[in-house]
Amino acid sequence: MSLIKTERELGIMRAAGAIAAAVLEDVGAFVRPGLTTRELDEFAAARIRHYGATSAFLGYRKYPCNICISVNDEVVHGLSGARRIQFGDLISLDVGVRYQGYIGDTAKTVAVGGCGLQAQKLIDVTTQALYEGISRALSGNRVVDISRAVQTYVEANGFSVVREFVGHGVGRTVHEEPQVPNFVEPGKNSAKLKAGMTIAIEPMVNAGSPAVKVLSDGWTVVTQDGMPSAHMEHTVLITESEPEILTCLENLPSSLRAR
Ligand code: MF3
Ligand code: CO
Ligand code: CO
Repeated sequence: MSLIKTERELGIMRAAGAIAAAVLEDVGAFVRPGLTTRELDEFAAARIRHYGATSAFLGYRKYPCNICISVNDEVVHGLSGARRIQFGDLISLDVGVRYQGYIGDTAKTVAVGGCGLQAQKLIDVTTQALYEGISRALSGNRVVDISRAVQTYVEANGFSVVREFVGHGVGRTVHEEPQVPNFVEPGKNSAKLKAGMTIAIEPMVNAGSPAVKVLSDGWTVVTQDGMPSAHMEHTVLITESEPEILTCLENLPSSLRAR
């Protein structure tokens, strides 16, 4: 299947992206101390339904939750449950929705009730690393230009990028070609970016070492050194000019704006 989307497909991708962004915004605003992560996941499920979409993650390779909620040293793919959110927690929220057959995929890390200087710096650097990557998502560039921009920015700020998980093409399924790593693999050539491609750029940034491991639940990825991690993600369209962020509220269908 072609990685280049038609205008018809892009119209749906814009709506799917906007819905994912709206759900992420709603869930981020709902986060508070005392809530369990399961309650947060249930709230997310209700918001996804509200916008006429379904979770793209629930059931994907048997993933059991509606969104990914990863706390503190959890990097990605956290499982929600009885854990209670506390002041100062770093909560990474990753939302994937399916709308009219197409996916929007977006993530952010929020600090509950404010956090320490180092944690705030981790969030800020991860956010800026995402935008450094997006700024290189240009027709004629290669994927590695995105990877290099993310890695250089993160490491210049004293943090590290996770190697085991990467960004990816997005379309009818969550993960399509090409892979979009957040680091440069010397000697490996990477795909050319072309107008009409839609990719998820998603730096996963560790405060300490880049090493991660998967817990015995088979899903939760944590840092090996126990230090915190942050994750920021947008689904982006490559165009003939500037990249277009699809996971933004701007394109939310007007019929879905109320409430
Ligand atoms: N959120 C991941 C991504 O951005 C995919 C999660 S797959 C799941 O690519 F099964 F863990 F949900
Ligand atoms: Co995601
Ligand atoms: Co993704």
